[in-house]
Amino acid sequence: MENNIKFIDSHVHLDDERFDDDREQLIKSLKENNIELVLNAGADLKTSINSVELAEKYDFIYAAVGCHPHDTKYMNDDTMNIFRDLSKNKKVLAIGEIGLDYYYDNSDRETQKKWFREQIRLAKELDMPYIVHDRDAHEDILRIMKEEHYDGSRGILHCFSSSVEMAIEFIKLGFYISLGGPVTFKKAKIPKLVAKEIPLSNLLIETDCPYLTPEPFRGKRNNPSLVSYVAEEIALIKDIPVEKVAEQTTINFKKLFNL
Ligand code: NI
Repeated sequence: MENNIKFIDSHVHLDDERFDDDREQLIKSLKENNIELVLNAGADLKTSINSVELAEKYDFIYAAVGCHPHDTKYMNDDTMNIFRDLSKNKKVLAIGEIGLDYYYDNSDRETQKKWFREQIRLAKELDMPYIVHDRDAHEDILRIMKEEHYDGSRGILHCFSSSVEMAIEFIKLGFYISLGGPVTFKKAKIPKLVAKEIPLSNLLIETDCPYLTPEPFRGKRNNPSLVSYVAEEIALIKDIPVEKVAEQTTINFKKLFNL
């Protein structure tokens, strides 16, 4: 990897307990591993607070605050008010990750949908982008986002797992399509097709670490420096230099968040 190349990892969970033993050391190694900045996503109240704390501690870490569909059964108006307060911090760039997860169904679907809508409305109220988690819920995600659509809505479909046709619909709503580790998996035909068909000007890259480790490190703990493998795969599929993927996804990220 060239030393002057710089990547932005648009979705990380560096507050995860799997980093407890070496978090500081790992974070300090990121700059020399060509990571310019990362966006640490919250998934509930505790991880949103942790996310903001990390962002306050390190200049190249930014935060998102919000409740993942898994934990929406614990949501209430007080939690929403805390997210609203946390979002006033200058290092908080977005509401997220929010959405629907019909694979695990950890919270019942009506509860997931209610809080997905409420948090989209919070993003609207705050004029902030929002970050969407969609697992096996593509149709409802798109329908709710259309119903809640407003002027200036924008954000990220994180670790995108749906089709090219759906990606085009989300882009029309003002969203970027973020690709992660699965694009490197041999059997992942659809993410590879998305990488091929969707213009680089609509794409972001991410690790979702510690989850979804790209090939050839599958099974090991993921970390932001491995985002280069996601970029390499997109470059290979598009038949362009990896520098171009790094450069354009960096431009896209900074444009979305006004950085
Ligand atoms: Ni995530």
